[in-house]
Amino acid sequence: MGAPSKPLTVLGIETSCDETAAAVVRGFPPGPGEILSNVVMGQAASHRPFGGVVPEIAARAHVELLDAIIGQALDEAGVTLDSLDGVAATAGPGLIGGVMVGLVSAKALALAAGKPLIAVNHLEAHALSARLSAGTEFPFLLLLISGGHCQLMAAEGVGRYRLFGATIDDAVGEAFDKTAKLLGLPYPGGPQIEALAKEGRARRFALPRPLLGRDGADFSFSGLKTAIRQIVRAQSPLTLEDRNDLAAGFQAAVVDVMSDRVSAAMQMFRTAFGVTNGTSRLVAAGGVAANEPIRTALQQLCREQDFLLFLPPVELCTDNGAMVGWAGLERLASGLTNSLDAPPRARWPLEELAT
Ligand code: KG4
Ligand code: ZN
Repeated sequence: MGAPSKPLTVLGIETSCDETAAAVVRGFPPGPGEILSNVVMGQAASHRPFGGVVPEIAARAHVELLDAIIGQALDEAGVTLDSLDGVAATAGPGLIGGVMVGLVSAKALALAAGKPLIAVNHLEAHALSARLSAGTEFPFLLLLISGGHCQLMAAEGVGRYRLFGATIDDAVGEAFDKTAKLLGLPYPGGPQIEALAKEGRARRFALPRPLLGRDGADFSFSGLKTAIRQIVRAQSPLTLEDRNDLAAGFQAAVVDVMSDRVSAAMQMFRTAFGVTNGTSRLVAAGGVAANEPIRTALQQLCREQDFLLFLPPVELCTDNGAMVGWAGLERLASGLTNSLDAPPRARWPLEELAT
């Protein structure tokens, strides 16, 4: 199917983790698109007492919040269900209870309004967020770093992804969250660690850089977390200074590993696509891409390696409905819609999308 002649308008619904979100986006591929509304209701406060996301609490909160949030997204965008071209929702991967809430709501709206349903892969939504914000052309190297995912892959087109490397244990966001917990900081830990690290001395504690310099583009973070745990035990009770220094040391180790692994993937990308210098593209997406020192390190690396860097704005890096609406819009523009029996999936690797 060729490019649509008029812009498409799509409602996007996101409920796969602990953000209840809905948004309306308008445009056509490759973007940039227009975000007519983007309503995100975080549930972090409900999960904080437990130190992480509790699936049952998340699912119940989505049920309570979603209707009003969809209504608000449509109101703020100034559109009605009738004027939409499609209804998109995250169909996985994610916490299955939450995914079911969002997907079933999207099916009901699509059926009632007689609009196509688009079952969106959450990872593809993160992947395409740079097309929404900046119209990034394919192919691009994608660094997907979030609470549940840590991968480097080539994005060749809608639904077409080639994996270069992934974490062999914890996702990087998970490592931020677990380290924060060890330091007695509330969930979600990423922003907390980033704030403390500003006051800390990164070199006070010797911390490992797992897989640094190794072949391939895989990641590993469990060794780093274990090293932090041992230091926490030895230093206990931690002073504020200890906490700041550990946060700074952890973040510096993550930045070093990230730069090294991305650099390896850049070589793999060049080998695979033969892209000449200056036109290779790197997109960073996912909640951890909100981290300022990581953003700075990626900017530096792209200067050195002659890659163009696309960093979506922070509100499009963490979970949101606009990226889901946009991924839905891109699929709709390619004729890739779903029937009302599209299944919710807890597990749904991006490389399986093509099939
Ligand atoms: O993409 P996201 O909102 O949800 C998932 O799909 O996982 O990512 C959430 C993750 C959490 O682990 C959170 O701690 C991390 O992103 N995060 C950060 C920052 N902001 C969010 N990690 C490091 N620095 C940040 N500023
Ligand atoms: Zn996410």
